[in-house]
Amino acid sequence: MTVKEIFETMDYGPAPESAVEALAWLVDQGDRFGHFIDGSFTTPADGFESRNPANGEVLATLSQATQADVDSAVAAARTAQPKWESLGGPGRAKFLYAIARLLQKHSRLAAVLETLDNGKPIREARDIDIPLAQRHFYYHAGMAQLMDSELPDAEALGVCGQIIPWNFPLLMLAWKIAPAIAMGNTVVLKPAEYTSLTAMLFADICQQAGLPAGVVNIVTGDGAVGEMITAAEVDKIAFTGSTSVGRRIREATAGSGKSLTLELGGKSPYIVFDDADIDSAVEGLVDAIWFNQGQVCCAGSRLLVQEGIAEAFHTKLRARMDKLRIGNPMDKCIDVGAIVDRVQLNAITELVTANTAGEMYQTKIDMPVGGCFYPPTLIEGLTTSDTLMQEEIFGPVLVSTTFRTPGEAVEIANNTRYGLAATLWSENVNLALDIAPKLVAGVVWINGTNMFDAAAGFGGVRESGFGREGGWEGLSAYTKPKTKTKPLELVKPFKGGGATADPLDRTAKMYIGGKQARPDSGYSQAIYGKSGTLLGHVGIANRKDVRNAVEAAAGAKGWSKTTGHLRAQILYYIGENLSARADEFAHRINIMAGKRTGATEVEAAIQRLFSAAAWADKYDGQVHNVPIRGVAMAMKEPVGIIGALCPDESPLLGLVSVMAPAIAMGNRVILSASHPYPLAATDFYQILDTSDVPAGVVNILTGNHTEVAKPLAAHLNVDAVWSFSSSNLSATIEAASAGNLKRTWVNHGLAIDWSQDHTKRFLQAATEVKNIWVPYGE
Ligand code: NAI
Repeated sequence: MTVKEIFETMDYGPAPESAVEALAWLVDQGDRFGHFIDGSFTTPADGFESRNPANGEVLATLSQATQADVDSAVAAARTAQPKWESLGGPGRAKFLYAIARLLQKHSRLAAVLETLDNGKPIREARDIDIPLAQRHFYYHAGMAQLMDSELPDAEALGVCGQIIPWNFPLLMLAWKIAPAIAMGNTVVLKPAEYTSLTAMLFADICQQAGLPAGVVNIVTGDGAVGEMITAAEVDKIAFTGSTSVGRRIREATAGSGKSLTLELGGKSPYIVFDDADIDSAVEGLVDAIWFNQGQVCCAGSRLLVQEGIAEAFHTKLRARMDKLRIGNPMDKCIDVGAIVDRVQLNAITELVTANTAGEMYQTKIDMPVGGCFYPPTLIEGLTTSDTLMQEEIFGPVLVSTTFRTPGEAVEIANNTRYGLAATLWSENVNLALDIAPKLVAGVVWINGTNMFDAAAGFGGVRESGFGREGGWEGLSAYTKPKTKTKPLELVKPFKGGGATADPLDRTAKMYIGGKQARPDSGYSQAIYGKSGTLLGHVGIANRKDVRNAVEAAAGAKGWSKTTGHLRAQILYYIGENLSARADEFAHRINIMAGKRTGATEVEAAIQRLFSAAAWADKYDGQVHNVPIRGVAMAMKEPVGIIGALCPDESPLLGLVSVMAPAIAMGNRVILSASHPYPLAATDFYQILDTSDVPAGVVNILTGNHTEVAKPLAAHLNVDAVWSFSSSNLSATIEAASAGNLKRTWVNHGLAIDWSQDHTKRFLQAATEVKNIWVPYGE
């Protein structure tokens, strides 16, 4: 093309990036890779090829890890961990800084390797993936530096198994490894089988940084290797990938005591109001759904446009689609590169071909031949029940619908099993900030999209998984409290045989929706004191009572919208009312549990209520400084409906310790009272009734924890389940929670000292952080 022709057409000329250095690096490594275990590369073994999806060329051969490889990686990590942790935060920070600097030094090599292996445009690898990966190590070097002073009660979990996907290979590696090693853990990481090359480069960088052997171990292979890591003797599994595999990992780790975070799929709404800056919103869509060929868990894949502007908006969008440049990802002028692998290309093609709803538009541009390319696609006029409005396509395919009112936009946006991210465009700050809190998503972007930073937590709700990556909140996924734990003995009810304390029939009912309710089972259980005296009866809850309690809790959703100030007053009121009847409760605890510590327990319960009341209006969010024109507001939201099996051994204090922080944060609770000593809980209804607690906010069931654990954990309207029961039901609960991937906190048969105030831990478990990115400053 001559200069004259270029001026005439104003067309882009090709601007190819050179692959020479990256290909030479691969040759230097022998084009065959072993695993990176205990600080060195193992001899390459049988495995699989990694191909360039843009042209099908083989780039290198990777080894498929065996059980022995995984075992030796875990053993190396285990051996290295205590010494790595004992280096202290500043000691570890030095290595993270060194890694960050080396990632900068080798940034072009990393970017080119990523593009060759993954098919993403070099512009994105160079300007987004690699800089963000560097930033993650810098940021977490700082976190390591600050750990001793800012997180004095936290310590490392131990060895972390980490399994990552192929869409942002080096960036996902950084998201996993940086916080883990900053907090003193060691890791065994498995990259996705399509894209292992930058992980190998990272292993090389670890060597160059002089990272102690065994701190980072990388094994390559397919899902079978992921399963081996999941089953290995590790203390945590951190997974990013599909919801179906995430669910399997939840089931496989149930009851194992392994900590778990899951960052899964999404079908994120992209909402455009009629007062939006339309050109910006159209350009935003390029970043929302055509960034990385739409292979982004938080891609704005569901367009919701306000009806009045829908036609004009779609017209502009189609025109913009026709200008997208698709082709060789190594060309710096390319907007849309190759799909990661033919398997994914086929999956996208099948999903789109099977769709008969709506109207499809594909870009009118010449498609590159060979390679795994899929044209940017728009499917208009879908309704929420259409498959493509619900299923993650994970490709450059945008589906769209329209809405009339802001309320309808929120309804459609939330009509999904996912809850990862949401984008909204409006020039009206009131409207934008009114809608943001109503969207069920872990991240909300206002007038921007797909923005990420190490300082702002990322992660979802619902079936998009749990746990956050980045920010202060991301660190808790890699630490545990320093407290020593000991086993929790099963607390058995006393047996009968003695005198009856009171000849009148005193069968306490359950407490559901602010009313006393008879158990559905029609069965009750006798409660005896230590000497065998019959103290009364309580109902035995079954799954139907659980369902009724969940319904009552769902009906009390207004509680989540009340102010912390109001909730604090109600908690103080409960405390005051309990205080007025302290002697009665203390006596009840003493005779029921055969203790002499009733008075101390009641006093501590009152203090716990006051602590939660104090925090109700102070457990605030944060505003994160992110390096763009904006800030990320990390808002703490209630988790929703929490089901909890209360401690058996501490009948009143345990129940209050669980309930108070949960309701202080705006959650509604279903509490299964102490099984052997339930009468303090049944007396407690009267306190709740006289303290202005709205009906349905606190629901109390009695009976055996074993009966209610599974129905609670399997219920799709319950958002979190906690268990502090002395019947170790951790495995049952974690396995049953996989259905809707609800958050769990279970004791794994370990005791918690309820005389200590754990309110802060409870506040954290009772809230979910939503990061709302808003334009701010210049
Ligand atoms: P995947 O979830 O199967 O793979 C992600 C990682 O998990 C890979 O490293 C894989 O080897 C590993 N893995 C697979 N099976 C495993 C098992 N049973 N136990 C432990 N680890 C296992 O995702 P895949 O098949 O590559 O993509 C399928 C779909 O998943 C995509 O079309 C997309 O919808 C979704 N996906 C979502 C991602 C996200 O970031 N949320 C990333 C990648 C895929």
